[in-house]
Amino acid sequence: MTSQTTENKEKSIVLVGLMGAGKSSVGRVLAHKLGLPFVDSDDEVEQAAGCSIEDIFEFYGEAAFRDVEARVLKRLLDGPPQVIASGGGAFMNDETRRRITDGAVAVWLRADLATLERRTRRRHGGRPLLKGGSTRAKLKSLIDERYPVYAEADIIIDSMDEPPDKTAGRVLDRLRVAAATDRTAPDGAETPR
Ligand code: S3P
Repeated sequence: MTSQTTENKEKSIVLVGLMGAGKSSVGRVLAHKLGLPFVDSDDEVEQAAGCSIEDIFEFYGEAAFRDVEARVLKRLLDGPPQVIASGGGAFMNDETRRRITDGAVAVWLRADLATLERRTRRRHGGRPLLKGGSTRAKLKSLIDERYPVYAEADIIIDSMDEPPDKTAGRVLDRLRVAAATDRTAPDGAETPR
């Protein structure tokens, strides 16, 4: 059960992490638990561009995708509090990351390579970065590049093989601790600094 008084519902919560980390599935449940709207930034990008992520990459290139993505995130962050599942690359943009860490709560769903590989096997749609060649090698290189940056998130939650409801519950516990102490906990710590 959620309580209005123990969670900070004034800020948006932005789920960060690689493709397959569970940002959308956990985000949806988390939003429900918090009584907040849920939005997926990839869906918003597709709506804004009027075409699929694959088509944006193919016809306009990744830089154009990143540009739309950054503008979409800015709009979402300027809006009322909600749970936002961000595309895996969104937090890598300096300006977007600053907006998120300044005005929202960033939650990194951290998953290991084997988990990401297994989960992304189920869906490559909307993920042109995984097309062609070894998915494992691509994910490994994204882990090396991005995990040090994702580590700047306010809260880090290990994404495990469990129902999204359970992971969302663990996120909620951490948000409660953060709200109770009026700050978000640092890197992977179970208790606030
Ligand atoms: C990307 C992740 C995708 C999507 C796009 C690029 C990335 O979103 O935004 O294919 O750079 O990691 P998900 O993380 O929701 O799959």
